[in-house]
Amino acid sequence: MFAVTAARFDADDPLSGLELGEHAEPEPPGGWTTVTVKAASLNHHDVWTLRGVGLSADRLPIVLGCDAAGLDADGNEVVVHAVIGDPLVAGGDETLDPSRSLLSERYDGTFAERLAVPQRNLVAKPAALSFAEAACLPTAYLTAFRMLFDRAPIGPGSTVLVQGAGGGVATALILLGRAAGYRMWATSRSAAKRERALELGADQVFEAGARLPERVDAVMETVGAATWAHSLRAVKPGGAVLICGATSGAVPPADLTRIFFLQLSVIGSTMGTRDELARLLTFCEQSGVRPLIDRTMPLTEAADGFAAMIAGEVFGKIVFTV
Ligand SMILES: NC(=O)c1ccc[n+]([C@@H]2O[C@H](COP(=O)([O-])OP(=O)(O)OC[C@H]3O[C@@H](n4cnc5c(N)ncnc54)[C@H](OP(=O)(O)O)[C@@H]3O)[C@@H](O)[C@H]2O)c1
Repeated sequence: MFAVTAARFDADDPLSGLELGEHAEPEPPGGWTTVTVKAASLNHHDVWTLRGVGLSADRLPIVLGCDAAGLDADGNEVVVHAVIGDPLVAGGDETLDPSRSLLSERYDGTFAERLAVPQRNLVAKPAALSFAEAACLPTAYLTAFRMLFDRAPIGPGSTVLVQGAGGGVATALILLGRAAGYRMWATSRSAAKRERALELGADQVFEAGARLPERVDAVMETVGAATWAHSLRAVKPGGAVLICGATSGAVPPADLTRIFFLQLSVIGSTMGTRDELARLLTFCEQSGVRPLIDRTMPLTEAADGFAAMIAGEVFGKIVFTV
C-alpha cells in the first residue's frame, strides 16, 4: 500500500528524511482493527518526528501521521483517536498513562491507505462532518478542546489570548472558544494572519509582543520561547498560562518572580481522552463549528504540505486525501 514515512532524522533539513512509496500492509494484533483511511491531517508533530524529536532511530522507518478519518472493517465512518494508552492505569485518563504514545511514535501512523489501531480508538464520525473536516480533529482540535474546556480555570465570558494565530491548534482555539462564548484575542507576527484571525471570530488581534488594552484571564501557548515572556506579562494576577507546544523553543527564561508574585498558574496540556474526542465531535455538530482547512491535497503530494508547514505558510489545517 502507499504510505508516507519518516526514513531518517535530520534536525536541520527535515524534508530529506521524508519518503513516499510502498509500505507493508498493517497486521492488527488482538483487540486491534484496520481502518481504511479517507483523509488525514498534518500536525507539527510530523515535522518534529522528521527532525528526530520524540522517538529513537530504531523505530524507523515509521509511517507518519496522528490524525485520520475513514472506514472501519464493517464500512462504518469513523474518526481515529490518536492516543494509544490504557485509561485503566491512570484513573480513566489515557493521556496520563506513563507508557502512552501517539500514532506514528511507536506504531505506524495515519499517512497510509490503511492503518491498524486498537478497536477502542474508533469513534463514530457524525454525518454532518466531511472526512476532511473530521480528520482535523484528533490532535489539534482535541488539544485545543481540552486546554479550553477541561484544563483552564476559566469559563464562558472569560478573556483568552491565543499566541501565534495561524497554527492548527491556535485556529482551533479561536473557533472553539468563540463558539463557547469566550472573548478570544490573538497575536500574530503577520498582518495577513491577524486579519484572518478576525474573520475567524477573534474579538481583537495584536502584533506579537504588543501591549494589550487589559490583562487576560488565560493565555494559550503553542509558540514557546518567542512569546513566553509576553504571555506572562499578558495574564492578570491569579490567571493561568496553558501550554501544549513550543514551536519556537522550549527553554525560555521562566521569570519565576512574576509567577509567584502574581500567583500565576502554568498548566501543561497534551491531547485528550477518547471521551473528550467524542464530546468534541458532538460540540462541532451542535455548534456548527467546522475545522478551518488551509488546503487539501492528495496524500501522494504530501511533501508540498510538509514544506508549507516548515515555512510557516499555513493558516489552519493541511489535509491529505487518500
Ligand atoms: N501537546 C500536544 O498534545 C500538542 C498537540 C498539538 C500540537 N502541539 C504542539 O503545538 C505547537 C503548535 O502546533 P501547530 O501544528 O498548531 O502549529 P505550528 O505550525 O507549529 O504553528 C504555530 C504558530 O506558531 C507561531 N510561530 C512559529 N514560530 C514562531 C516564532 N519563531 N516566533 C513567533 N511565533 C512563531 C506562528 O504564528 P504566527 O505566524 O501567526 O505568528 C504559527 O502560526 C507545535 O509545537 C506542536 O508540536 C502539541
